[in-house]
Amino acid sequence: MTQGVVFITGATSGFGRAAARRFARSGWPLVLTGRRSERLHTLKQELEGQTRVHTLTLDVRDAEAVREAVESLPEAFGSIRTLINNAGLALAPEPAQRVALEDWHTMIDTNVTGLVNVTHALIERLIATGSGASIINLGSIAGQWPYPGSHVYGASKAFVQQFSYNLRCDLLGTGVRVTDLAPGIAETEFTLVRTKGDQTASDALYRDTTPLEAADIAEQLYYIATLPDHININRLEVMPTRQAWSPFAVDRDG
Ligand SMILES: NC(=O)c1ccc[n+]([C@@H]2O[C@H](COP(=O)([O-])OP(=O)(O)OC[C@H]3O[C@@H](n4cnc5c(N)ncnc54)[C@H](OP(=O)(O)O)[C@@H]3O)[C@@H](O)[C@H]2O)c1
Repeated sequence: MTQGVVFITGATSGFGRAAARRFARSGWPLVLTGRRSERLHTLKQELEGQTRVHTLTLDVRDAEAVREAVESLPEAFGSIRTLINNAGLALAPEPAQRVALEDWHTMIDTNVTGLVNVTHALIERLIATGSGASIINLGSIAGQWPYPGSHVYGASKAFVQQFSYNLRCDLLGTGVRVTDLAPGIAETEFTLVRTKGDQTASDALYRDTTPLEAADIAEQLYYIATLPDHININRLEVMPTRQAWSPFAVDRDG
């Protein structure tokens, strides 16, 4: 396998940061992005002993900033082999009828618009890499399975799934692979963000069970990116053993 650059969005926390560490361990050059530049700086310092690291402070919702950041990539980081579209968030776990419209917009702007902004900016570079290139999109079990409080978050991840499949159709013949990686419950800063900083709620969600860890998903990302060039995983849904579905809810009198 020819090694190339891995471009990771949302590398300041959770899956993205764990993926940066996993790919660095195998010597992949990294382009790491996120809004929190201090964290990017710290991660760069941590990983520079293992590989070359380039950081971009970037809000994926800003299409022009994304385009400029990609155009500004130094030549040594220009040949992208793997794009990990990971930046994303859930907000407002309460019922749809109580959610502020702004929170819905933020999820759509990040999980849908942000993901297409980055994909659009990098697609020509991935096609130039050709055989063995990958786009790995972070979907979610919420994109396939409904649950209360998922409203726009789940819908945005359903978009990620269908966009991934549709991209495969258009990229057929280019060698570029596309995967929708759909994790279940995983302990990161995800719930802290979702509850707008409620550490107690976050701790309660992960207490007394065994959620996925960020490193578990990083291993899946690395596995997908390093499969033989002729294999494409279309969708990979990963849950912890201690998570499953519930019965249908029924509204009853009384
Ligand atoms: N944890 C779970 O249970 C779970 C399950 C299924 C799917 N997922 C998905 O996995 C992905 C990663 O989530 P995580 O669990 O690792 O959460 P996390 O720890 O909160 O990390 C989210 C990352 O996304 C970045 N991000 C958010 N908004 C951004 C923006 N506008 N521009 C650029 N970067 C942005 C954050 O960086 P900055 O704040 O520095 O910008 C951060 O690095 C998300 O797409 C999430 O929906 C998570």
